[in-house]
Amino acid sequence: MSTAQEVPHIPVMLKEVVEYLGPRPGGRYLDGTLGLAGHSLGLLRASGGRAELICLDRDEQALALAQERLKEFPGQATTFHMPFSSFETALEEVGWDRIDGAVLDLGVSSLQLDEAGRGFSFMADGPLDMRMDATSGMDTARTLVNRAHFEELKHIIRDLGDEPLGGKIARAIVRIREQEDIATTSRLAEIVAKAYPPDRRREARNHPATRTFMALRMAVNNEIGEIKDFLERIVQYLNPGARLAVISFHSAEDREVKEAFRHWAKGYRCPMEQQICTCDRPPLARILTKKPQLPTQLEMDRNPRSRSAKLRVAERLGPPTAGGRP
Ligand SMILES: C[S@@+](CC[C@H](N)C(=O)[O-])C[C@H]1O[C@@H](n2cnc3c(N)ncnc32)[C@H](O)[C@@H]1O
Repeated sequence: MSTAQEVPHIPVMLKEVVEYLGPRPGGRYLDGTLGLAGHSLGLLRASGGRAELICLDRDEQALALAQERLKEFPGQATTFHMPFSSFETALEEVGWDRIDGAVLDLGVSSLQLDEAGRGFSFMADGPLDMRMDATSGMDTARTLVNRAHFEELKHIIRDLGDEPLGGKIARAIVRIREQEDIATTSRLAEIVAKAYPPDRRREARNHPATRTFMALRMAVNNEIGEIKDFLERIVQYLNPGARLAVISFHSAEDREVKEAFRHWAKGYRCPMEQQICTCDRPPLARILTKKPQLPTQLEMDRNPRSRSAKLRVAERLGPPTAGGRP
């Protein structure tokens, strides 16, 4: 297992997140995706070490490394091993009713991608796992790949992965799994690559399995469901003036963030599916990024992982609602 010193880490759009959140001494902040604590440390440093943080991660290994790093500011950050959709449990445990800002930096960390045994990457051979939280009892990618119905696999690969060849790839998987248990990352990558017509394989900028692996990871970890659940409730816990910054790396994630922010800014408290507002309430938040903010060219050159990042920020308006819940 890696140690905190061994893992090099460049947090994505750190300067922008810190500037938007403007952490102040004694302010209370939530980092829902602690990872290697890049953003948490940035917030703590900017507050002169005097902000208070609740930090969540569903990955025990990341949490252990981050805890080492957070020792730089003893007593300022309380960490929890839990998905960010459960943030209310952490707030309750620490005794906070509201917060002064929150950040989500979605997706997986380089630590997770680089560890072959976690099964996230086709670049190294490993078991087909992909769970961010191996203690959660969630199905692994191996279970999904070998058991899911063809239509479900096709939907995951095509829609979550934005993979136009989703149907073809799902069909190839279903055909092969009749003869063998697809158990490793390299075997799956090989099946996906063979499903690609040779001309498309040559034209592709990335490995043909890139989108399929990302889609399976998102399905295994219910990543879109997590974001939806979080966004449904977090706004009620933001103090007036508090900001939520979300960095996403995928169009489906970004869409959820954009729609939730619009919903808050319109003032609707009616269900999101309802087109016409029948509740006549003032807006909950204003949007500070009309278009998503992108990393600078310099950041993209220094940190290629930042290339697909999109940052959106909203600010809570008005007095807190009575009881804190809609
Ligand atoms: C991109 S990394 C965060 C990096 C971090 N901001 C930093 O600079 O060190 C994403 C982290 O969020 C965690 N994560 C992803 N989805 C999560 C969820 N729904 N709940 C809690 N943690 C999650 C992953 O385990 C991973 O450690």
